Amino acid sequence: MSEVAVIGAGYVGLTTATCLAHLGHRVICADIVEERVERLSKGEVPILEDGLPALLAEGLATGRLSFVVGARKAAAVADFVFLCVPTPQADDGSADLSFVEDVTREIAPVLRRGAVVINKSTMPVGSTRLVEQILGEAGASIDQVRVASNPEFLREGTSVEDFLHPNRVVIGCDDPSVAVRVSELYRALDAPILVTDPASAEMIKYASNAFLATKISFVNAIANLCEAVDADVREVTLGMGYDQRIGFEFLHPGPGYGGSCFPKDTAALLFASRNVGYDFALLDGVVEVNRRQHERMVEKATSMVGGSLEGVTIALWGLTFKANTDDLRDSPALVIAQRLIEGGANVRAFDPAAGESAERAVPGLVVVSDPYEVCAGAALLAVLTEWDQFRWLDFNRVRDALASPNVLDTRNLLDPVALRRRGFTYEGVGRS
Ligand code: UGA
Repeated sequence: MSEVAVIGAGYVGLTTATCLAHLGHRVICADIVEERVERLSKGEVPILEDGLPALLAEGLATGRLSFVVGARKAAAVADFVFLCVPTPQADDGSADLSFVEDVTREIAPVLRRGAVVINKSTMPVGSTRLVEQILGEAGASIDQVRVASNPEFLREGTSVEDFLHPNRVVIGCDDPSVAVRVSELYRALDAPILVTDPASAEMIKYASNAFLATKISFVNAIANLCEAVDADVREVTLGMGYDQRIGFEFLHPGPGYGGSCFPKDTAALLFASRNVGYDFALLDGVVEVNRRQHERMVEKATSMVGGSLEGVTIALWGLTFKANTDDLRDSPALVIAQRLIEGGANVRAFDPAAGESAERAVPGLVVVSDPYEVCAGAALLAVLTEWDQFRWLDFNRVRDALASPNVLDTRNLLDPVALRRRGFTYEGVGRS
């Protein structure tokens, strides 16, 4: 059993803390928001994440997991300190490391001899060195305290599953004995452990996310072409996916990728490329295809309601950036809602998890708590997030509620044949 501190109780920090406690370690998780710490200490999970409530309850019950306000208290008694604070996108596209820098300065004076500080949040190449440098400046002797990169590969919605059953664990550290100590934390997991230099570990994270974003933009471009040549992208990706070098995953066309990771990480990698004088034109294209894909959905909606959005009522199903999360950050659905409103439409939305915070994110958007009520009198229903429950709703009721039975299915979630049989005009993505 190791003594672990996790700094930051967001998606990454909470998953890391609860899962490490589940693996038998003693974990103190710190956050700066008092109310969050209070709620977590009572077993209340502030985010929608499958498996997290059960692991939190288990950690509190066994006494292996606790929460405190302030990083110092947690770091002072830890052998391993995971930095899980946000690294948001700065105005120039780079990753803003100010939270990482502040927390590093804060914990430096209290770190134990032999402690390892571990960069878990996604941080640009060079961040392990940066944290080492700040620790040194702030009073921690680098002979006594070590730094490692250990990037997370957690998908929101399935982060607990991803943590406990990872495809790989990557540890970036120049000192093999420190890398072995970090790897011991994951001893109970059945996963390959890859030890690299810090820069390579940091690059593995960015390259992985950029590659996945590339797959999505690629398939969105193919879907757009399929529409033009009367092919069906679902058949096309099926035929591609059987090639094991390509695979089936991340080949679902849609309104473009979103979330707190792909847009930010692709921007940060482009920024880093420009900084070293490398023209990463491929990744520029990926980002541009994604931006245009959002716009393309707005164009589809506009043409389905007769060419003008002015005064038209549009119903949306789904606001989160993907299903099974309540996260709205960089959600394509919000971009699309905003564009529709800018075009003059009255836009109402239903989402199973997003709540009314979406109204603050998109002025003019009205959030409705019922999937049928949202359709009342609308000229179009646009499905923007692939919540499975949408497939099982009563489409006769939906048709009767709509002023015109138009469905724009930006996630290819619904069955076009069944809908057309019920009298809907259906349009998906990349489907003839
Ligand atoms: C992503 C990565 O999948 C994780 O491995 C990584 O750890 C995480 O970012 C991170 O950097 O922290 P996440 O942002 O939770 O995880 O979401 P994904 O499931 O990857 O989806 C991202 C976006 O791509 C969503 O908007 C989703 O709808 C879209 N997507 C995904 C598609 O449009 N098509 C697909 O085939 C797959």
